[in-house]
Amino acid sequence: MSERIGILGVGHFGGYLVEGLSRGARSVPLVLSPRNAGRAAALAARHGCAVAASNQDAVDRADVMLLATRPDDAAVIVASLRWRKDQVLVSFCGGVSRAAFSAAPATVVRAMASAAVAAGESTVVVWPEDARVRSVLERLGPVLAMADEETLESGTVMYGYYAMLFGVMAEGESWAEKHGIAPDAAREIVGLAFRGAGLMRLRDKDLSTEDILRSLATPGGLTERGLAVLEKDGALKSWGRALDAVLRRIKSPKRP
Ligand SMILES: NC(=O)c1ccc[n+]([C@@H]2O[C@H](COP(=O)([O-])OP(=O)(O)OC[C@H]3O[C@@H](n4cnc5c(N)ncnc54)[C@H](OP(=O)(O)O)[C@@H]3O)[C@@H](O)[C@H]2O)c1
Repeated sequence: MSERIGILGVGHFGGYLVEGLSRGARSVPLVLSPRNAGRAAALAARHGCAVAASNQDAVDRADVMLLATRPDDAAVIVASLRWRKDQVLVSFCGGVSRAAFSAAPATVVRAMASAAVAAGESTVVVWPEDARVRSVLERLGPVLAMADEETLESGTVMYGYYAMLFGVMAEGESWAEKHGIAPDAAREIVGLAFRGAGLMRLRDKDLSTEDILRSLATPGGLTERGLAVLEKDGALKSWGRALDAVLRRIKSPKRP
C-alpha cells in the first residue's frame, strides 16, 4: 500500500515540495494544511492535491507528514497535534533539533533540501535513515543519509550555499548587462553556466574539483587572470567564512 503524504505549512518551501512531489509519472496524492487558505487552494487546484479541514485533519489523513513551517513555530505546532505511533514526521525546519519534537509519538526524521526539489534537482539530506522516508523523498532528488544530527546540520548549511550561489549569478548577469548583453541572453548564459558547471562536476567523477579548475585556468589565460583577482581579494576563501556563519546561526542557542 502506498504511503499517504501530508504537508504542514504551504509557504515557499511547502510549495516547492508540492511541485516536486506532483511531477510526472511518480506524482503522489498530497493532503495540504489549510493555513493560508488562498495559497493552499491555488496549490491544490494546480497540482490536484486535497486541502485538509484543519492541521489535525491533515495529520489524521497522512502516513508520512512533511513539516515546512517556520523553525520558530515548528515544535509548538507539532506538540499541539495528536500523532499516531505508526506515522513518520519529516521536519525540513532548519536548525530545529529532533528532540524538539519529542512530544509526538511518531517516528521523527530530520531532512533538508533546496528549493530545486520543485524540479527534482536537489539532493535531500536525512537523519536518521528511514526506508519509508527515503521512498517518498527520492522523488525530489538523490536522498543522502547523514551519519548523525551534527552532520545533518552541516548538510543544512550546504543548502544555504545553494541559495547564496544566486548572489554570484546576479553579479554575473549584472556585469553582462552593463557590457551590452540583453537581459534575457545574460540570464540564459548565467543559468547554463551553472547548469553546465554542475553537470561537468558530476560527470568527471575521477577528477577533483581542483583538477577541473586547473584544467580550465591555463597558465597566462583568461580564467587564470580572473581567478587571481578573486584570490587576491580573498573572495574565494570568504565562502568558507560565510558557511561557518550559517552553521553558527543554525546552532544558535535561541533555537529550540
Ligand atoms: N525557503 C526555502 O527555500 C527552504 C529550503 C529548505 C527548508 N526550508 C524550511 O522550510 C520552512 C518554511 O520556510 P519557508 O521559507 O517556506 O517559510 P514561509 O514561506 O513563511 O512558509 C511557512 C508557512 O507555514 C505556515 N504556517 C504558519 N503557522 C502555521 C500553522 N500553525 N499550521 C500550518 N501552517 C502554518 C505559514 O502560513 P502563513 O503564510 O499564513 O503565515 C506559511 O505558509 C522553514 O523551517 C525552513 O527552514 C525552507
